[in-house]
Amino acid sequence: MHVQDALATRLSVRDFLPTPVSGELIREILITAARAPSGGNLQPWHIAVIAGEPLTRLRSLMIDRVAACPEGEPVEYDIYPPSLHSPYRERRFEVGEDMYRLLGIAREDKAARRAWFARNYQFFGAPLALFCSVDRRMGPPQWSDLGMFLQSVMLLLRERGLDSCPQECWSLYHETVGRFIALPPERLLFCGMAIGYRNPDHPVNRLASKRAPLTEFAEFMGV
Ligand SMILES: Cc1cc2nc3c(=O)[nH]c(=O)nc-3n(C[C@H](O)[C@H](O)[C@H](O)COP(=O)(O)O)c2cc1C
Repeated sequence: MHVQDALATRLSVRDFLPTPVSGELIREILITAARAPSGGNLQPWHIAVIAGEPLTRLRSLMIDRVAACPEGEPVEYDIYPPSLHSPYRERRFEVGEDMYRLLGIAREDKAARRAWFARNYQFFGAPLALFCSVDRRMGPPQWSDLGMFLQSVMLLLRERGLDSCPQECWSLYHETVGRFIALPPERLLFCGMAIGYRNPDHPVNRLASKRAPLTEFAEFMGV
């Protein structure tokens, strides 16, 4: 598979088949993804991989936790700026509405939307998951390094026929996750990622998120 094909076929998959993912495969992918560049070669990413019995345990723990604390735990970072402005606000709204339309969930049906959102905390049925954390002393440049690492993971997964969904929503339950994965206090949870094989029959996996045209995000001088 060419990088271009991996990029073109990656999408956030939100319903997975139960087919297991081999531990050897995920180790290989993480080793290869660690070739991602990072400023000063700090390699600031820390990854915890969960599957099998621990994942079953975490899933069941999260059913109780989300029910007991639906608003989440006090956040450690803002997923979005406090008041999202144009054009970002519209982009966020559009992808959300496109997803709920595919799912047949109306805007007014808050209960159904909440129930769907809670599937995040079941990793959308994925048989394997990872959490990415970073030393609290790191700043925006190192957080951008995490993104390069995680995108490398997602593209390598595509090369092996696997899919993923990066999930910042886990940061809303950073205390619970931190306890579960024994996150050292000096580290902050950035996100989770569901990993597995997409269910080709689930409508949510037909969500084709849009992108702004080149002229909207790039300027050229001398070329
Ligand atoms: C860092 C990061 C965190 C994300 N968190 C979530 C999440 O918590 N739940 C979810 O369903 N999608 C999440 N997404 C997926 C985005 O909504 C998705 O990438 C975007 O809409 C573009 O769609 P695509 O990934 O299918 O191309 C996240 C993506 C990134 C990069």
